[in-house]
Amino acid sequence: ASSSLKPSTTVSDTYSEAIELADIDWDNLGFGLQPTDYMYFMKCDQGGTFTKGELKRFGNIELNPSAGVLNYGQGLFEGLKAYRKEDGNILLFRPEENALRMKMGAERMCMPSPSVEQFVEAVKDTVLANKRWIPPQGKGSLYIRPLLMGSGAVLGLAPAPEYTFLIYVSPVGNYFKEGLAPINLIVESELHRATPGGTGGVKTIGNYAAVLKAQSAAKAKGYSDVLYLDCVHKRYLEEVSSCNIFVVKGNVISTPSIKGTILPGITRKSIIDVARSQGFEVEERLVSVDELVEADEVFCTGTAVVVSPVGSVTYHGKKVSYGDGIGAVSQQLYTVLTRLQMGLAEDNMNWTVEL
Ligand code: COI
Repeated sequence: ASSSLKPSTTVSDTYSEAIELADIDWDNLGFGLQPTDYMYFMKCDQGGTFTKGELKRFGNIELNPSAGVLNYGQGLFEGLKAYRKEDGNILLFRPEENALRMKMGAERMCMPSPSVEQFVEAVKDTVLANKRWIPPQGKGSLYIRPLLMGSGAVLGLAPAPEYTFLIYVSPVGNYFKEGLAPINLIVESELHRATPGGTGGVKTIGNYAAVLKAQSAAKAKGYSDVLYLDCVHKRYLEEVSSCNIFVVKGNVISTPSIKGTILPGITRKSIIDVARSQGFEVEERLVSVDELVEADEVFCTGTAVVVSPVGSVTYHGKKVSYGDGIGAVSQQLYTVLTRLQMGLAEDNMNWTVEL
């Protein structure tokens, strides 16, 4: 069921006034799909140019059974968030960064991608059309999920002849069921998320299917998620299924460097800058699994998880714990970043885009 809407400017004019909130339980948002009003839809033909993007009623989409994305995994996604400020205005966090990352990923996956301007405009239109689904300040955020997929039919292995760019949104709260409490990770040394020369460094959908087996096994044993090691030495930290990892020792914060097998997180990059602005020394380098034993604190970063403190990491049956509550450094970085994202602190980084 999809009915197109008027051009985007009309949509935002219409929706910016009547700010009623959707009738849902805003106090108990987790990270699950809450269907909203509109999604954004834009196609591109063999010429490689995306045109005629439009908002449609949120709903199922139709795909040829032979679509490239369904058969050969030719797909990418992005994730970003919109926050409602105290004055009711809306803040997006670094949307151009997602646009650029999608372009980079599209190149790796042999797909055309929307321009940065098209991407950012589409995000803005989608958020404004779904304004009543942005949580009140302090209750969560609107998670924005852009998708790029080979929607054209292929049978022999080849890039699809047609592509679809789509954005849907959902109000969300905390990602992990632990809420803001520290999560417990288990190091996985047999199954790997990414390989050198592979696609670990781009946000292709297959990277996320590949971690489900280890993640499910970890959850069945009571862990929150899995921490991956590099597949060559089985020794250096890579990332968690859905987020990047940081290790704190004294005034030094270390995180695995981006070298093709690690997703270049936008929260990762932002936290590096925030940490330096707070006087920490940040090192991007190979981080050995042995350093987990000596660390004062460990935390994860991601759009969905924000900054998640790690309470313990288990490796080869040995559990290393990092104290009872949230570590001081994790707390400090979380607070500085989220105050900026929510418009509670001045954005001296120039990262937010106000709608
Ligand atoms: C995000 O943090 O936005 C992601 O894309 C991770 C996803 C597994 C929820």
